[in-house]
Amino acid sequence: MAPAIYSATRRQLSLAYQEFAGPEQLSPEEHRTWEAARAATEFSYAPYSHFHVGAALLLADGSLFQGTNQENAAYPSGLCAERTALFGLAGSRPTPPRLVGMAVAGRPAAGAFGAALPCGACRQVMLEYELRQGAPIWLLLPSVQGTVLRFERLADLLPFHFSAEDLPPRA
Ligand code: THU
Repeated sequence: MAPAIYSATRRQLSLAYQEFAGPEQLSPEEHRTWEAARAATEFSYAPYSHFHVGAALLLADGSLFQGTNQENAAYPSGLCAERTALFGLAGSRPTPPRLVGMAVAGRPAAGAFGAALPCGACRQVMLEYELRQGAPIWLLLPSVQGTVLRFERLADLLPFHFSAEDLPPRA
């Protein structure tokens, strides 16, 4: 019997982002957010991983809101810095100002700042807040190579994402 012929359309995704040699090349607002993420690592509670992560949110009124990873002896009960920041802000005010930008920083307990790339669960949560406000949030991440990556919107970090649109209509 002749083999079945399968055909598929080959598609490709491309992702545009900026790469800066260092934070001194960022705009003043971006630089402030970057520094706030680094400073936040001081408040991290990471006695198990010894990896101190900080996240900073720049709000439309110019203020900054920080978050850090908070670990727990029951490991899965801990939370990443990105979600601590977003939940902390959204969970503590009726209508926080719009989110303009976000930066993440990470360093070992005894060591220099290195790469800090958000985990999948954080990307999903980050996306929700961008969709919720209907306006893009830029993101600054320290790369493995020591450069600064700048993304125009959080959705860029999670292609083929799940969102409220994928839920069935409410009865
Ligand atoms: N962590 C973050 O806070 N953000 C990330 O983007 C990656 C990982 C934390 C979770 C945990 O406390 C530690 O880093 C090691 O995984």
